Amino acid sequence: APAEPLEEKGQVAPYICQRRTPLLHHNTALTDALETMAEEARFCGSDVRSLAFSRAASVLKSLPWRVKRIQQLHTVPCVGEHSQRIIQEMLEDGMSAEVEQVRQSERYRTMKLFTKIFGVGVKIASQWYQRGLRTLADLQLHQIKLNLEQQAGLLHYEDLNTPVELWEAEAISQVVRKAVEQISPGATVTLTGGFRRGKPCGHDVDLLITHPSEGQEMGLLCRVISILDSQGFLLYHSTHRNSLPSLEDEELWVSDHSSTMDHFERCLSIFHLGDLAGSNQGGAGAQKLGASTGSGASSLWKAVRVDLVETPYSQFPFALLGWTGSRNFERDLRRFSKHEKKMTLNSHGLYHLEQKIFLPAASEEEIFQHLGLEYILPEERNA
Ligand code: CTP
Ligand code: MN
Ligand code: MN
Ligand code: MN
Repeated sequence: APAEPLEEKGQVAPYICQRRTPLLHHNTALTDALETMAEEARFCGSDVRSLAFSRAASVLKSLPWRVKRIQQLHTVPCVGEHSQRIIQEMLEDGMSAEVEQVRQSERYRTMKLFTKIFGVGVKIASQWYQRGLRTLADLQLHQIKLNLEQQAGLLHYEDLNTPVELWEAEAISQVVRKAVEQISPGATVTLTGGFRRGKPCGHDVDLLITHPSEGQEMGLLCRVISILDSQGFLLYHSTHRNSLPSLEDEELWVSDHSSTMDHFERCLSIFHLGDLAGSNQGGAGAQKLGASTGSGASSLWKAVRVDLVETPYSQFPFALLGWTGSRNFERDLRRFSKHEKKMTLNSHGLYHLEQKIFLPAASEEEIFQHLGLEYILPEERNA
């Protein structure tokens, strides 16, 4: 056995952003169980309970050793009583009766089914469940009113719940890059989200668009969307206008929502990834894109969710940090900033609440430096 790990002597840092969390780790069975509990709590509207299970799962992902006895966790932070019970059950029996019961429950399964529709959150899914709906077909039977987003989500349900692979994400990035360069040479497109953290597949493709001369990015997203649309790449899109007031407005940085705000111009879209038949090898995707007529044969093309975001160059490092995720990592980064450093961090910038100054940064590394944190690579942010 390897030397007694430091972590067993109380060395695990309390904030996720102080830890390195790789994609592959040593406690997958335990973290799967805890994440099921977190999801179930979220389905019940218990966000505090959900966060507790989620934090427990995150800390286990960061341990460079496999948990074998519950006593090993006594000095590990963020593992509450209920999480410990689940872990103990798992260690003793190889499974947790409580988790299995959740997984088999009608409510959990139905909530999962409904929340997997693009545009459907816990609130709506819960209403449908209360009304007695149990299947996707029930939505039509009961003539449930759906907005455009949900209609698209239902129409492309299968595709949108099929993982997006890296080569598909790269093919889409390339298509967007071509459109962007056509409009504004020098503008850049960056693949972020889970793929930047090294995930081999994901639920969508997250792209940031910027231009090195400040101001040149303005209006870019809108024009990119219209090009992509005319090229037949878009099955659905909805643009959210930039609503950003002046960053100088202090209210923006002291309000309760200051750390979660994100006012960039953005587009939620569904791409039409053309003619996939037999072309699932690296790189080959780019030429195949858009090759289909899009009129049906589900085996020939695939619908893929894409998030497009336009950011000014001066805010780009903050946007990159904010959109790389994971969500758990982001949440703790912002919590750490506020409570340990008296700073507000969001996807637009970093503001010192006591000195009342902005801390500009030209890279993610500089943001970590401002916060007095060791730099954590994107691949180590899989909390
Ligand atoms: N994000 C955000 N505002 C939104 C949606 C997402 O700031 N309205 C950020 C999240 O904080 C997250 C990142 O965008 O860090 C990526 O979110 P998402 O695509 O949902 O998750 P991924 O980590 O990319 O996972 P997946 O591979 O499943 O897409
Ligand atoms: Mn994503
Ligand atoms: Mn996304
Ligand atoms: Mn299809």
